[in-house]
Amino acid sequence: MTKPVEDPTQYVLDEAMAYIHAAALRAATVLGVADHLVDGPRAAGELAELTGSHGPFLRRVLRLLATRGIFREDDDGRFHLTPRADVLRADAPGTIRAGVLAVTSEVYWQSTGDLTEAVRHGELAFDRRYGKPFFSYLVAHPDVGAMFNEGMANFSAGEVERIVASYDFPASGVLVDLGGGFGGLLLAVLRARPGLHGVLFDRETVLAGHVLGRLGADDRWEAVAGDFFEAVPAADLYLVKNVLHDWTDDECVRILTNCRRAMNPGAKLLIAELVLPEGNEPHYGKVLDLFIMLLLPGLERTRAEYERLFDQAGLRVTRMLPTPSAYSLIEAEAAN
Ligand SMILES: C[S@@+](CC[C@H](N)C(=O)[O-])C[C@H]1O[C@@H](n2cnc3c(N)ncnc32)[C@H](O)[C@@H]1O
Repeated sequence: MTKPVEDPTQYVLDEAMAYIHAAALRAATVLGVADHLVDGPRAAGELAELTGSHGPFLRRVLRLLATRGIFREDDDGRFHLTPRADVLRADAPGTIRAGVLAVTSEVYWQSTGDLTEAVRHGELAFDRRYGKPFFSYLVAHPDVGAMFNEGMANFSAGEVERIVASYDFPASGVLVDLGGGFGGLLLAVLRARPGLHGVLFDRETVLAGHVLGRLGADDRWEAVAGDFFEAVPAADLYLVKNVLHDWTDDECVRILTNCRRAMNPGAKLLIAELVLPEGNEPHYGKVLDLFIMLLLPGLERTRAEYERLFDQAGLRVTRMLPTPSAYSLIEAEAAN
């Protein structure tokens, strides 16, 4: 069979309207449609009653999502869960509900609408619209902060086991998770290595929601509030996941230099980031890179770009490890 010739006009039009898909996904997620399909398929009218929405409109939203395999409509007009719809349920294994709600929420949506002006002026869309740097805004607006932190923890939850399985974490010593958020990754590493002591290092407001109590061994961890631009605790291993991509090269060098200064002899530093491939192939990191560009001074980087940062901070890369997720691990140690 010959492949149909692509119509470039239609392709570009589809791309231009892609935000409609994101909006439909948000609507179905906010309304909690997937949660009402666990016991079997339902018609749009029934779902509308259960979710307090308008049946004919809801049907059109679900019909669009079904074109991407998110829900499936049968011949009787009933909608079914699919694997892609199931992860929208609040208590599904691998749920991504909190993450979807966070990235499609108003502050990100509005900032995205300002992309053209941001590109024109090389300014952060978020700061321009909301008058404050992103992380300061999250502190000043606890509701938005909570949504971000829950979204972040939700995104990270899916990667945690893959990261733990991809690196040979030491059996003992002190592990500091820098900018570790709620500590889901640290919790998983501490569970896998009963001889390790963990330090969750983040801003005070974030630490309030940490999950380390779930370890059931309070003598094995500490939650330390601080600013990684000022100083970081001593450690045998630093975990730095999804942090360097928030900052400029100079800021990253400050964070990494603080780690090098505080490192115990023989310590390692492990970053987990969406290391970008060279070239034009599609990669989730290239999408996240523009998301970051709207909000924060950072960027997603290639391996060579990370190596340059390490070099400037007096560190050298010892190895780079892929994981089964889009994340890569880069391990480094003091250069001398
Ligand atoms: C993108 S989140 C990553 C969270 C976590 N590592 C993960 O992968 O889910 C960045 C984290 O850095 C923290 N952070 C931002 N500025 C910080 C600072 N100056 N000192 C310490 N932590 C900071 C934020 O509070 C947030 O938890």
